[in-house]
Amino acid sequence: MKSRIIGTGSYLPENIRTNYDLEKMVDTSHDWIVARTGIEERRIAAADQCTSDMGTIAAQRAMDMAGVTADDIDLIVMGTITGDYPWPATACLVQENLGAKKAFAYDVSAACSGFLFALSCADDFLRSGRGKRALVIGAETFSRIVDWTDRNTCVLFGDGAGAVLLESQEGDSGVLSCHLHSDGKYFELLCQKGFGAKYPPSVEGIGAKLPFITMQGNEVFKVAVRSMTQVSKEALTANGYTSADVAQFIPHQANLRILEATTKRLGLTKEQSFINVHKYGNTSGATIPIAIDEANHQGLLKEGDLLLSAAFGGGFTWGSTLIRW
Ligand code: ACO
Repeated sequence: MKSRIIGTGSYLPENIRTNYDLEKMVDTSHDWIVARTGIEERRIAAADQCTSDMGTIAAQRAMDMAGVTADDIDLIVMGTITGDYPWPATACLVQENLGAKKAFAYDVSAACSGFLFALSCADDFLRSGRGKRALVIGAETFSRIVDWTDRNTCVLFGDGAGAVLLESQEGDSGVLSCHLHSDGKYFELLCQKGFGAKYPPSVEGIGAKLPFITMQGNEVFKVAVRSMTQVSKEALTANGYTSADVAQFIPHQANLRILEATTKRLGLTKEQSFINVHKYGNTSGATIPIAIDEANHQGLLKEGDLLLSAAFGGGFTWGSTLIRW
């Protein structure tokens, strides 16, 4: 048995924030942002929109594509670090919105690798027979945890959601393998320090900007390229393939320079690599399912094609998957 993607969906908020908009907010320029990141614009959720709202729409679209109803869903796993509440899990709110009464639902916290970590969990459940269909969602409202006065971080991120619907099927198509890694020694290079048990809510904490993202970008950059390259090779080697066999490489969309450096090290061509970071920025756990949905709608994923995906994020966490479409 394999877990096969039978539906994809995504949702991007209507509100577009361009680099020119950011020029009016912080000391930056469109040219600097494009040269260092490749990002031209990003989407910002409406004031009344949350992660569960976007995740629900993306999931419903994946279900519609597959032609299944909420009653058919056994499991919902959501990769997010910007849930509606610290708890309960945002996946439970999506379950309620969809009316997926029999599904069990939980969140996975692996930052930008969240979708691949969630996919791996769902794949394990389905292959072990603990369900037939799983929704795997990546959804983030990063605009709520970005310090919009910090030019080092605010230019990078955006909001959005993507989802895939997995069904266990016999045959050659489906998830071939997942490869996950973590290294907590780097946790402070990319994190949100408040407000959890270590730094509980306080007026001083707000003054110190603890609820916002902090990042040492150039350190993150180096480890990201190295790790995404290594874990992509791991997936190919585990299945006896090389880069030449890959139809589409759909990496986490953090920064064009990270993507280009990784693609080059893997020996992949531009045609093999899917990039949409210029339109949406880094939507963390949502970038990969959004990109898979776009590639799917553009007809870039044909039956039998090999799809390689890799991600890197806070923790640090990193992972990859190889999927036969
Ligand atoms: N506009 C203009 N200047 C800026 C901006 C900005 N938005 N941000 C930083 N600068 C300045 C800095 O202050 C610095 O100025 P200085 O030389 O006078 O001190 C200069 O630009 C260079 O700063 P660096 O941080 O060294 O610039 P770098 O080339 O490393 O680019 C960037 C910064 C884009 C953040 C890069 O390091 C990066 O992309 N890192 C990866 C981070 C990332 O993607 N994180 C997301 C989460 S992890 C993931 O998803 C993989």
